[in-house]
Amino acid sequence: MALYTRVSGSVGMITLQNPPVNALSAAVRQGIVDMMDKALGDPKVKSVVICGQNGRFCGGADIREFSGNMTGPPLVPMIHSMESAAKPVVAAIEGIALGGGLELALGCHYRIAHSKARLGLPEVQLGLLPAAGGSQRLPRLIGVPAALELITTGRHVTAAEALQLGIVDEVTEQNAVDAAVKFALRVADASLDARRISTFPCPRPPATDAFFERAMQQVRQNARGAVAPVACVQAVRAAATLPYAQGMEREKELMATLFTSGQARAQQHCFFAQRAVNRWSMPNGARWDTSKPRPVRKAMVIGLGTMGRGITVALAQAGLSVVALETTEKQLMEAKQAVSGMLERTAKRRAVAPGFDKVRYSRDMRLAADVDLVIEAVFEDMPLKKKIFQQLSSVCKPGTLLCTNTSGLDIDQLASQTRNPELVVGMHFFAPAHVMKLLEVVYGPRSSPTAVATAMQLGKQMGKVSVAVGNCRGFVGNRMLKPYLEQAFFLLEEGATPELVDGALEEFGFAMGVFRMSDLSGLDVAWRIRKADELAVTDAPAGQSTARSRQGRRYSPLGDLLCEQGRFGQKTGLGWYRYDEPAGRVAKPDPWIQDFLERYRAQHALVARRMDHQEVLERCLYSLINEGFRILEDGIAAGPEDIDVIYVLGYGWPRHRGGPMFYAGMVGLARVLERLEHFHREHPDVPGLQPSNLLRKLVASGSPPVHRWKEVIKKLHSQL
Ligand code: COA
Repeated sequence: MALYTRVSGSVGMITLQNPPVNALSAAVRQGIVDMMDKALGDPKVKSVVICGQNGRFCGGADIREFSGNMTGPPLVPMIHSMESAAKPVVAAIEGIALGGGLELALGCHYRIAHSKARLGLPEVQLGLLPAAGGSQRLPRLIGVPAALELITTGRHVTAAEALQLGIVDEVTEQNAVDAAVKFALRVADASLDARRISTFPCPRPPATDAFFERAMQQVRQNARGAVAPVACVQAVRAAATLPYAQGMEREKELMATLFTSGQARAQQHCFFAQRAVNRWSMPNGARWDTSKPRPVRKAMVIGLGTMGRGITVALAQAGLSVVALETTEKQLMEAKQAVSGMLERTAKRRAVAPGFDKVRYSRDMRLAADVDLVIEAVFEDMPLKKKIFQQLSSVCKPGTLLCTNTSGLDIDQLASQTRNPELVVGMHFFAPAHVMKLLEVVYGPRSSPTAVATAMQLGKQMGKVSVAVGNCRGFVGNRMLKPYLEQAFFLLEEGATPELVDGALEEFGFAMGVFRMSDLSGLDVAWRIRKADELAVTDAPAGQSTARSRQGRRYSPLGDLLCEQGRFGQKTGLGWYRYDEPAGRVAKPDPWIQDFLERYRAQHALVARRMDHQEVLERCLYSLINEGFRILEDGIAAGPEDIDVIYVLGYGWPRHRGGPMFYAGMVGLARVLERLEHFHREHPDVPGLQPSNLLRKLVASGSPPVHRWKEVIKKLHSQL
């Protein structure tokens, strides 16, 4: 709703009230309409200020209303009548003016922002466009190039940038509402002729057609198949080339197509999923969000390789004091140089102080006695990690949280090396650790809710989205990746090329196909793990380790064979692709691989067959999804939302497809089940293709929507 008061004698003040972000729900819209009528009808009122309760102007349309029937007054005419009012209306922007919130402010005659406010039109991130006149008013106010950039990226701007761009008229360090009231008193009698943005001509960029074609090409390239950014360009083009009223019609048409598209639903699912992971509870019923996290002011990072360096930077940027530990002086000095460079670059980008003094470099493990939390980030070697945990256990003060950065090792084995196993948790960061948003927080059977809560809170402090996951091989993300990678190898054996597989996955919207991704992260990493698992043959003479069945199931040794040739990916200049130089970035198809695959197939009497993108997608994605169902069945992830967040934020899954579990629902669970059954019949020696019980159960329960799966999972657990 909206509250009306009269202040300073002649200023009508409308306060939006809809906690926590004053979203424009039906009740709020109705409130604005009613309160505007009241203000305009009150002869004592000469001007109006509109603001939001609790220091937040407005977080935009109420996203929760998108899934039901829209009721209440629509936004577009509401903003229009505000703009055409005969009394000046001033927006007092504190906290946020996002989406419909900024569109509302653009319908006001003046905008005053607090210096800490953030403004933006983030609709594109929800699969939509700013359709309450935002796509038509913003280009008229700040010009086409700047508006196009803001609308197609959804980027938030600071108050200072908003002032520079011309979005706001004034920025204040004081209370923005007070400043707006003063401003409203000052402009009470000023003419409004030049203040109604919809009446401004839209400045056309020179060579308009060519400008928009270039913009469209660039946006399509970055969109990876998402349709909203494309519609945003079309809407801004309408602003630049059509009269305002026609532009508004175009905005409405484009919005109508987006609104009902599966992509908008997928992106909104991601929005809510990202928030749902914060409300997670452990299988024993303990809720981390009600267990009080311990304060963490000082941390130690052990091992300053790529991951350790990124973690050090992330901690320092979050304001913690960090002791960064390495074993030799040389490694320490190299790491110091690298970390300082990273701190400097990120500080420059964010316009903050680099915080060099936050990090102390040392070789002395005894300094762990004085820290609240340790993150061990040495390479994936269990005996080494165990040794470090034993040492930590004797050095650290009681209550110090001990974390391991691992992508899949058993947390409980490490916990058993310590005096306080309840204080041990996994923190699986993603490279580069100071940039990637995702953090898997892994609890072992003995981790306490307080320890989980502390790690989750620390993740948040570092600007990450933390997802709590159970302890199993590969946790959630890497466990699901395994059958996906396996299928990609099998497809090569059956006739595909790396380019075909990657092409299908990239067309689907993945940032990178599986082979390009493996080349980037290094083929030797997985090889080392397969050797430790006694899958890959250790020290085999080149080309010798070719058996296609291991431990009773189908196995593809293709990755091992490449590694035996020293082809480790980008870092060696050769992997599944060829690179111009070691560490070069442009992947080129390599005729050697073609030849190698042909020889391999001939050796194993495999006949290559033609396959299309559809088969690649079904085999790779459905086996990954199937593992996701097993993870839910095992209680390793709390719900499908957790898996989706992990995949979208950590594994390049396209946000406009909503994450793997949401996508399964979009495809149709019955269809996924039917295809898995089909593939499993064809490949009975691949257990990953055998449909999970949960998938069968969900289909038998009428394929409920993803947000209702938890009910079926609960039932399944109670039957076990
Ligand atoms: N409509 C409905 N609910 C909204 C909302 C909106 N526009 N914006 C935020 N919320 C809800 C969130 O779902 C969350 O609910 P929960 O507590 O039940 O999980 C709550 O408000 C707080 O949001 P959260 O994102 O956790 O808080 P924050 O302080 O970190 O961030 C915002 C606040 C406004 C920056 C962020 O929520 C945001 O970006 N919102 C979307 C803005 C947007 O896209 N508007 C255009 C809509 S078309």
